[in-house]
Parts: sequence; structure tokens; C-alpha cells
Amino acid sequence: MISQDEKTMKWQEDYKTRMNPVLLTKLLRTAVPVLEHLEWAVEAVEKGTCVTILPLNHQGTNQHGTHQAALISMSADYTGGIAISSLLCGVPIGGVHRSRQSERAVLWLASMQVKYLAPSCGDLIAVCDIDGEQQDQIRRRYDQGRRNLIALEVGFHANAEKVAIAKMTYYLQPPATSVGKGTSTTLVTHGRKTSARLIAGLRGRHAQDTQASIQSGVLPCPYSERVAGVHGRLLAEKLSASFPQLGVMVNARTAHLDFVLKKGLREGIKQVVFCGVGLDMRMFRMSGVQAQEEVKYYELDLPPMLSERSRALREFPELPVVDRQMIEIDFLRQDLQDRLLTGSDFKLNRKTLFILEGCSMYFDEQQNRCLLERIGQLVAATQGQLWCDFVSERVVRGRVVPPGVREFFQEMQEMGEEFVFGKDEPETYLQECGFSAVEAITAGRFLSSDDWVMDEYSFVVATAPSPPRRLAVPRDERYARCDSYASTPAIPLLLSEHSSSDPEDRCSPF
Ligand SMILES: C[S@@+](CC[C@H](N)C(=O)[O-])C[C@H]1O[C@@H](n2cnc3c(N)ncnc32)[C@H](O)[C@@H]1O
Repeated sequence: MISQDEKTMKWQEDYKTRMNPVLLTKLLRTAVPVLEHLEWAVEAVEKGTCVTILPLNHQGTNQHGTHQAALISMSADYTGGIAISSLLCGVPIGGVHRSRQSERAVLWLASMQVKYLAPSCGDLIAVCDIDGEQQDQIRRRYDQGRRNLIALEVGFHANAEKVAIAKMTYYLQPPATSVGKGTSTTLVTHGRKTSARLIAGLRGRHAQDTQASIQSGVLPCPYSERVAGVHGRLLAEKLSASFPQLGVMVNARTAHLDFVLKKGLREGIKQVVFCGVGLDMRMFRMSGVQAQEEVKYYELDLPPMLSERSRALREFPELPVVDRQMIEIDFLRQDLQDRLLTGSDFKLNRKTLFILEGCSMYFDEQQNRCLLERIGQLVAATQGQLWCDFVSERVVRGRVVPPGVREFFQEMQEMGEEFVFGKDEPETYLQECGFSAVEAITAGRFLSSDDWVMDEYSFVVATAPSPPRRLAVPRDERYARCDSYASTPAIPLLLSEHSSSDPEDRCSPF
């Protein structure tokens, strides 16, 4: 049993490090820049209580010189949210306190109803005061690891007159439920879509950036900007501002994989499996490549991401016809082989390229290993290849901190898309996962760039040795020459045995 003195001491410490008005004002203004513009501020915080101020100023008022109604609602949102947060001693709040996904509480407004009683024509003071009984309930449910819908009131005064009253309902979720079982929660789903839109947004920016286009050797994607939408565009701008090399890195990976895929298609790849397809439009860009009509594309991702993909693709009536199939999967809970072999017409006797692009950094070591081992068996069975990208471990672990990367990682973490995995020697790791001929190249080498940050990101092409017995592989004579894969480096096989007039091939990646 904790004594009253200990409770007081804990609160004092919490107040100092997490909940004091100056800190909260700063954190919220950083997270929501319009609060800075409005000069909104937190005035006082006690356990279960919060008081904020929305000054009467030019930027927050309407033609009558009174507060705009929507701004009163916005002030209610943050005032109630802080009152709830004050009850969660020591717990960082997602989107406010810098924190790992595994340790932060998720708190968001589910609904609100505001009664505007009188025009607000003075500094607007918002007060939320949660009574003792409700405080205990909130804390108890939270400690039990349960999700919580919390109804409370925020009252508003201006010039000592009551001007509005807001009935708010918040959703509060402890960290254990926001991570472990996370793929079904709204915020986690949102995070997944966000990262896919960000990548499309970065590819879209590249479409406007001729210099980057020339540098990376990849032709701009005509679809990415639209598929990213305003959200993707905004994210790309925001994250590129913190980490300017981000766009170049993503475009280098796009170029490298395009190159590998095109070469593969010309040389007999008949199936392409996109693991974590997101909003990748690559299959549509391949439509001019030789033998394309015989190729089947499998697009694997989480169900909500695939719904978003379907929605986004409906906006493109002009897309070339491509033989493709979407397959819903959660890599962390379902088996890739099961989903492919029983949930689609995927064939083991067709040479297959597996693509794991922009995904390894979000899964931990064990999750990556499981997935890669299962992919490796299919690569072996189909006598195919894997393309995968890795950030270096030293950067993910913070042993080396290139300029802008810390801010980038923090922003990704805030979005719920934390980088948790990297490998300094991806070749060795893939060999441990069952691959044989593995060749890696850094973005720096690929682009002939002397910016050392570019060498912290690698692209890997790998093959796998002869098929494991438990996968019955029908023999296909056409692929007899691929028997030599086990002893031959992957990239020379993939990339150097061709001559082509295709301008994209001129980038000579190695
Ligand atoms: C950064 S995006 C990359 C998308 C795409 N490969 C590209 O480069 O445009 C990561 C993708 O991995 C998917 N993903 C994340 N976790 C997953 C999981 N557990 N199972 C299946 N897909 C997942 C996300 O939904 C998202 O589409």
C-alpha cells in the first residue's frame, strides 16, 4: 500500500517531468502548430484537473471579435485530454510525450457535444475537473490494462461569464493493448496506412524533381503523387524537412528494385510477390516490359491497407491491365506460405521474385527472421529471388546518428511506425535465414554518392539453395539453368547479363 506522502512525492515528480503547464504548452504547440498560432496555453494542472487559456486575439476570432466556435471545441479537446493524462502517473501520452510505442498510452477524442451559451469576448478559460470517484475508476481500468471510454465535461468562462459547456468522450488505451494485439486498432491501422502514403508521397515528389530523377536513374512514377493524396504529400514534405536525404534514399531503392524487377521479368520471372505492398504502383509501371502479360502479381498486406489500396486504385481508370491478386495477411500472425499456397493461385513451379520493400525496419529480429525463413523456402522452391532493404543496425540503435535521422526516427515513432530493426551486414543475416547467394549494395554506392548517410541503407538481392523436401516442387525444365544459383552470386545473374536500350538500364547500379 502506497502512503499519502509517497503519492504526493510521485505526483510532484510527475508534475515536474511530464505534466507541468510550461512543458505541456510547449509539447502541444509543437505537435499541433495551430495552438502556437493561437497562443493557446496550459495554465494549471492538478491531479484530475486542467485549466487552459485561449486568448482573445486576432487569429482566434471572427468578424464580431469573438472566439470562433471550432476553436472553443479544440480547446475543450486538449483541456479534457490533459486532465485524464494527469491521472496516469509516469505514462507518456502518444503524440505528446516522446516515447516508444510499447510504453505510451493512446488517448484520443471519440466524440464531443458543445453547447455555446454566450459569445466569447474575453480570454477564454477552459476548466476540466474530474471527480474523485471517476478518477479512481479511470485509474483502476487503466491498471488492469483495459480500454476505457471516458465521459467528462469541460466548462468555459470569458470575462467571468459562462460561455460554453462541452460534453466529451475520450478513448484511452494502455500500451499493452496498443502494441501486442495492435494490428486491429484504429490508430495502428492508421499508422500502417500513413507509412505507405509517406512512401508514395516521396515517390511523387520525385516525379517533380528532375534532378533527383537523373541522379537515381529511375523514371518518375506517374501514379505515386496521386495515390499518396494530400496526406502522403504533407508527410513527405514534413519528413523531408527533418531529413532531406529521405527522398533520395527512397528513390534509390525504387530505382534499384525497378532495375532488378525488369531484369527478372525479361529473364523468366513469372510471379512477383509484394510483401507489404502498401501503395506501390510498380506493377503498373512494368506494363511495357517484355513478357509482362504472362506475369502474375500478388499484393500482400494487412486487410485495412488493402481496402485503402482498392479505394485508391479506383481513382485510376486509366491504369494498364495487369494480372494481380490482393491477399490479406498479417505477417505477425499468419503464415505466408499458408496464405499464398491456399489463398491464391500461386504456383511453386513458376519462377518468383519476392519483394520485401520498406518493411524490415518495422519488425523485430525474430519477426523478420520468421518471415524471411518462410520466404526463403518459397524462393528456393520456385528457384526465384528475394529483394529486400535494410537500414543499418548502428543507426537504428543510435550508435551512429547522422544529421536529421534522430528527428526522422522520432517523427516515425510519433506516427506509430517506429524503426526497431536494422542490420549492418545484411548478407550474413540473410544467409542465417536460409538464403545462399546474397549480394548487397548501399544506396550510396548505388548512386555513387559520397554522402555517408547513404551507406547506412542497403538493398539486397538473394537466392536460396535447392528446395526443402516438404515443399513438393514440380520440375520445370525452363528453369534448369537456375540450378547454378546456389553457387553463383545473385546480382551478376540478375543485373549484368543483359544489353538493353531501355534508358532505365543506363543507371548501371554496380
Ligand atoms: C512503409 S510501407 C511500404 C509499402 C511498399 N512496400 C512500398 O515500398 O511502397 C510498409 C507496408 O508494410 C505493411 N505492413 C506492416 N505490418 C504488416 C504486417 N504485420 N503484415 C502485413 N503487412 C504489414 C504496411 O501495411 C505497409 O503497407
